[in-house]
Amino acid sequence: MENFTFYSPTFFVFGKDEEKKTGEYVKKFGGSRVLIHYGGGSAVKSGLLDRVKDSLNEAGLSCIELGGVKPNPRSGLVYEGIRICREEKVDFILAVGGGSVIDSAKAIAAGTLYDGDFWEFYQGKPVEKALPIGTVLTIAAAGSEGSPNSVITNEEGMFKRGASGDALRPKFSIMNPALTQTLPAYQTACGITDIMAHLFERYFTNTPEVETTDRMIEGLLLAMIHEGPRAVKEPENYEARANIMWAGMMAHNNICGVGREQDWGSHNIEHELSALYDCAHGAGLAVVFPAWMKYVYKHDVSRFAQLACRVWGCQMDFNNPENTALAGIEALKNFLKGIGMPGSLKELGVKEEDIPQLAHCACHGDARTGTLGNFVKLTEKDISEIFRLMAV
Ligand code: NZQ
Ligand code: ZN
Repeated sequence: MENFTFYSPTFFVFGKDEEKKTGEYVKKFGGSRVLIHYGGGSAVKSGLLDRVKDSLNEAGLSCIELGGVKPNPRSGLVYEGIRICREEKVDFILAVGGGSVIDSAKAIAAGTLYDGDFWEFYQGKPVEKALPIGTVLTIAAAGSEGSPNSVITNEEGMFKRGASGDALRPKFSIMNPALTQTLPAYQTACGITDIMAHLFERYFTNTPEVETTDRMIEGLLLAMIHEGPRAVKEPENYEARANIMWAGMMAHNNICGVGREQDWGSHNIEHELSALYDCAHGAGLAVVFPAWMKYVYKHDVSRFAQLACRVWGCQMDFNNPENTALAGIEALKNFLKGIGMPGSLKELGVKEEDIPQLAHCACHGDARTGTLGNFVKLTEKDISEIFRLMAV
């Protein structure tokens, strides 16, 4: 195991009706002038936004609203949020929504306290200072409620890139699984896929002897395999929603990733798809991950075979462990198909003729240095070949 530090200071508030205490928590963490940031309308329609505003009013907090965050959040609204926060002397940002809303709130929080262009953080500058943020989570997926990361698409060039820094970790996150019961099945499945992908990005490592985190990842994957299809079939199943919501946080606050090299090639490949085609991040990952696995499994057949046996219940073929590794990849593909995820670029609506541009941008676009991933370092040519595997 490698040396590591682990700092996860977010205060998690989990369970039914807890959003009614939002005002209390904003105050507890020092907010007095609050920007409420939200998305395209689901939080308005469900009445959540009103409940949250009532709670802030009861706590005597003054609020300004900025809605309209789109999935795959854009830079334009971030610039607007930064301007509002400066003009109105906002001292706390409350994100009410999913990963896109939270990431947009994080970008505004960092940009407000920075004299330069906030985009520099998305080109690799670490975030050291940000306004405090809190979240009321409405979808289990990105894990942004507990992560130090934010992903934004720059409308100039449509580059989708990530920023990072512990200053971006929310001060508190309110996680009421009942709020996710209004999600359409497709969006639920996208979230399940993203959570599993966050676990795979950590599982495929070159660091030896990481049994503790291996087992944690496998345990969370087994929970997702059990609960995911239940939530897709029974949207109102509170217990399934609750287990998925907590797994989503643990999959990405890095408790499962410490002490081991992580990969992140598939995520960066996917970000090219959601930047260019505006597809849901989870749906893109459902297409990318099995193809990436097929391309790299020979690098460490025993790790793939281990996952196949421990998570997918495959029988070990001792004469030819490659068969076991491949059976595990097939089991993942079938699982994703079963919850309604796309299995090819065609199903995602991606044109094959765009592959050269996608692969080039992944390796050489804004802030990229020529290769992606760590488990296997991928060049532009490798990424083109992975895209070709996704075409079928
Ligand atoms: O905008 P509204 O109307 O709220 O609709 C949203 C949106 O259309 C809807 N939705 C959310 N909660 C709902 C709901 N609909 C009904 N009922 C509810 N309770 O769902 C749609 C998707 O929302 P979004 O926030 O985009 O989903 P998600 O949480 O999957 O976030 C995706 C974004 O997070 C980034 C992705 O790249 C993508 O841009 N990621 C962020 C990470 C991080 N910050 O640590 C890590 C991830 O790997 C990921 O890259
Ligand atoms: Zn993700």
